[in-house]
Amino acid sequence: MSDPQYKRVLLKMSGEVLMGENQFGLDPETVNRVAEDIKEVVENGTEVCVVVGAGNIFRGVSGAAAGMDRTTADYMGMLGIVINALALQNALENIEIQTRVMSAIPMSAICEPYIRRKAMRHMEKGRVVIFAAGTGNPYFTTDTAAALRASEMNCDAMLKGTKVDGVYNADPEKDPSAERYDRLSYMDVLTKDLKVMDATAISLARENDIPIMVFSVKEAGNFAQALKGEGPHTLVTN
Ligand code: GTP
Repeated sequence: MSDPQYKRVLLKMSGEVLMGENQFGLDPETVNRVAEDIKEVVENGTEVCVVVGAGNIFRGVSGAAAGMDRTTADYMGMLGIVINALALQNALENIEIQTRVMSAIPMSAICEPYIRRKAMRHMEKGRVVIFAAGTGNPYFTTDTAAALRASEMNCDAMLKGTKVDGVYNADPEKDPSAERYDRLSYMDVLTKDLKVMDATAISLARENDIPIMVFSVKEAGNFAQALKGEGPHTLVTN
């Protein structure tokens, strides 16, 4: 086992990536691949906890835009996260990685309720803790849930696994001349309004001095690579 640079990290996993090439829902092959990526990092000696999004199932903001009550739409999004969390738990346990799902909204027939000190113990025992249901409150994003849990768990870094391999000065899917930043400060992200994470999440990470690494989780092995400071990614620090 190598000596990892970061002892404990939080992976913020995009829900959208979990649908693979589909337009909706979960692609089992992709979920299994992400589980293998997490296993690699765990086996390298890093403690891992995960916050997953729900863009593959339901987006609260889109529901609200379509005329739904925002709080109801957000709660539907949180239920979507629970589905993703259980899928990821299943995939990890299929490859012999111990996990615990803890939900911000108690639903004890399905998983454990979130209790910070219990989550800490699970992590110390080497279990991958998957935090479900966001912060449990409407109007907060899963990015904010990630920054909150990373702070509570005293994580050394937060890794945002998305469809793109970092933060660009323009949308790389629309503008071929867009350039990726290697490093940014939290203030750069806030003042330039770069869409790394929402301002609440960035502020929390900044206050608690948690570096954010943005990388593409679409290709195998990138999670472990980013943690070693290798491969394309953007690092956001003070
Ligand atoms: P320690 O024994 O403290 O190391 O942790 P543990 O999680 O193994 O012990 P516990 O006896 O709390 O849990 C045993 C199993 O029951 C684990 O798979 C937990 O995820 C699960 N579990 C614990 N609490 C709940 C709960 O409130 N709801 C559900 N659905 N499962 C739970």
